[in-house]
Amino acid sequence: MTTKGSQSTTKAKSKQTAGQLPLRVAILGFGTVGQSVARIIVERTDLAESLQLTHIFNRNVSRKRVDWTPESVVWTEKIEEVLAASPDVIVETVGGVKGTYEWVQQALSQGASVVTANKLLMAAHAPELISLASVHGSQIRFEAAVAGGVPIIDGIRFGLAGDQLSRVVGILNGTCNFILSRMTSTESMSAVLEEAQRLGYAEADPSSDIDGHDAAAKLVLLAGVSFRRHLKASVVPTMSIRRIDNVDCLYASRLGRTIRQLSIVESMGNGHLQAFVGPVLVPQESSFALNKGAQNFVMVVGRYGGAKSFSGEGAGGNPTATAVVSDLVALTKEERNADTFDGAWLPGTLAPPPLRSYYLRFVVNDQSGILASITTSLARYGINVDAVLQEPGFPKDRLPFVVTVEPCEDTALEEAMRVIEREDFHAEVPLVMPLLHGSNDALAV
Ligand SMILES: NC(=O)c1ccc[n+]([C@@H]2O[C@H](COP(=O)([O-])OP(=O)(O)OC[C@H]3O[C@@H](n4cnc5c(N)ncnc54)[C@H](OP(=O)(O)O)[C@@H]3O)[C@@H](O)[C@H]2O)c1
Repeated sequence: MTTKGSQSTTKAKSKQTAGQLPLRVAILGFGTVGQSVARIIVERTDLAESLQLTHIFNRNVSRKRVDWTPESVVWTEKIEEVLAASPDVIVETVGGVKGTYEWVQQALSQGASVVTANKLLMAAHAPELISLASVHGSQIRFEAAVAGGVPIIDGIRFGLAGDQLSRVVGILNGTCNFILSRMTSTESMSAVLEEAQRLGYAEADPSSDIDGHDAAAKLVLLAGVSFRRHLKASVVPTMSIRRIDNVDCLYASRLGRTIRQLSIVESMGNGHLQAFVGPVLVPQESSFALNKGAQNFVMVVGRYGGAKSFSGEGAGGNPTATAVVSDLVALTKEERNADTFDGAWLPGTLAPPPLRSYYLRFVVNDQSGILASITTSLARYGINVDAVLQEPGFPKDRLPFVVTVEPCEDTALEEAMRVIEREDFHAEVPLVMPLLHGSNDALAV
């Protein structure tokens, strides 16, 4: 048990340690990000007085040795050896939750601070790890875990501390943005995905990106930093971009829109949060539409200051490593050495989604009465049709057309679509996507 007295002693000791530079840094995981972190620390001689690389830990470490780190660096595959040396900071760039969770707990418990790039670990355990750091007078920082090199966490924590935030909307997954901003009415998703894999923007198995789980983990962290509320990533409603077809690009452009994977979280007060990750139709003139390629873009809306946006490289060794090193530099500065991560994150509750407009895309085996049947079912659930679009030139047995509907309750639309999907004229399961109006801070979600 930790008593109040022993807590303050540990904190005082830790602050003293932070004053003793250089901070001794151990890197766990010498892969894409870990190597880039080491490279920056070694190359940037201006950091030599504040940061000293002491350990590099990796499995089968002999494969990993490089000749450009100082001779004094200890290369090891034993985590016990790292922890026994009592480094000031552990940089965790291994990834995943298995193993890393225990290592980070141990490091924090012995008073070391932790800098991690690991969104999965933090999305699952942030409240507990932040509290643990607070109890032991250390810090856990995770700037690199969201939007790679874009300083969104500290941007919110420090840059926007004077505002009361209400909503965060972001393009948090570079792979999806690369795919969606390259897809056209003729360039297919599979061709663009292959290109993304060739360029190193997409993994061999891109499921976590495409199905929204990667972005959901990042959104959990943004919700925590913005609202001090913790949602489990598994409760964030996610929708895959898998079913977006060339025809959706065509109809989106007819509607003056384009498709982006957006991650949205909005505070409704009292710990209730609306959240969503998935493909959304956004106006072509909005900053989200103009954000192309693998770049990330995050807009944060505050009650007093309006909208602020952050953009840049959301992944890659060097961009991500700059976020890690920025966290390390922050640890060397007394004023940023807060006792806690601005207080505990309390559990958040998922609130029902807002009324939203939707894009409904049907592919049907053409016959008379289809449109009447669809609009009748929608009307039965109180849903008003806004527009109907049908482009010429498609085969009659796979005829795509689109119905857009006015803002409605998600549950009403789900019920109506259940009824519509039972009809026998479908050549494909209909696709439903939210359709956002306005642009940027006025973007109605
Ligand atoms: N890459 C990016 O652009 C990026 C961007 C933002 C955040 N991140 C996050 O940064 C973290 C690292 O990503 P990364 O791309 O650098 O991954 P990576 O290239 O696969 O590097 C991970 C390193 O950890 C080692 N490792 C894995 N499991 C281990 C274990 N059980 N014991 C010891 N060593 C182990 C790996 O060794 P082996 O060589 O044996 O596999 C590898 O050297 C992840 O949390 C990721 O989500 C990455």
